[in-house]
Amino acid sequence: MERTFLMIKPDGVQRGLIGEIMSRFERKGLQLVAAKFMTVSTELAQKHYEEHEGKPFYEPLLAFITSGPVFAMVWQGDNVIALTRALIGKTNAVDALPGTIRSDFAVHTNYNLIHGSDSPENAIREISIFFTPEQLVEYEQTMQRWV
Ligand code: PPS
Repeated sequence: MERTFLMIKPDGVQRGLIGEIMSRFERKGLQLVAAKFMTVSTELAQKHYEEHEGKPFYEPLLAFITSGPVFAMVWQGDNVIALTRALIGKTNAVDALPGTIRSDFAVHTNYNLIHGSDSPENAIREISIFFTPEQLVEYEQTMQRWV
């Protein structure tokens, strides 16, 4: 089963949207594997966003992600990466489809509420940056799921 790393950014936390956003993933039928309310250090932010180093939005992005608490999570399910990115919506809120998190709640690209891994490789990398293996819950293999 696939896993992904999701992080509600400081704007989502400040606006009280943790419950709203989590409930969308729960209602979809995805499984929560780990969650942590935390602040992101500059070092951690640099690691997480290393592929964007040098881009014009890189420094503002680091400043934003380290500006206040975030809610970091791991979720699992079949096709969880594609499914969660569909629920989140396009990076720019203007392009996000109605009904997605970013269309429903975000205005600016810079403050777009939530991060979601964009590939299996990045999901593995990002999960390992934010969580230790012991923090990832293993569900009972015998438990039948109907979603
Ligand atoms: S790119 O240019 O295709 O690599 O951009 P993308 O992968 O869509 O997003 C890169 C992350 O930077 C955040 N961000 C911005 N992207 C583009 N333009 C601006 N102005 C910008 N500001 C911030 C964007 O939300 C992505 O972060 P995450 O955390 O992955 O959502």
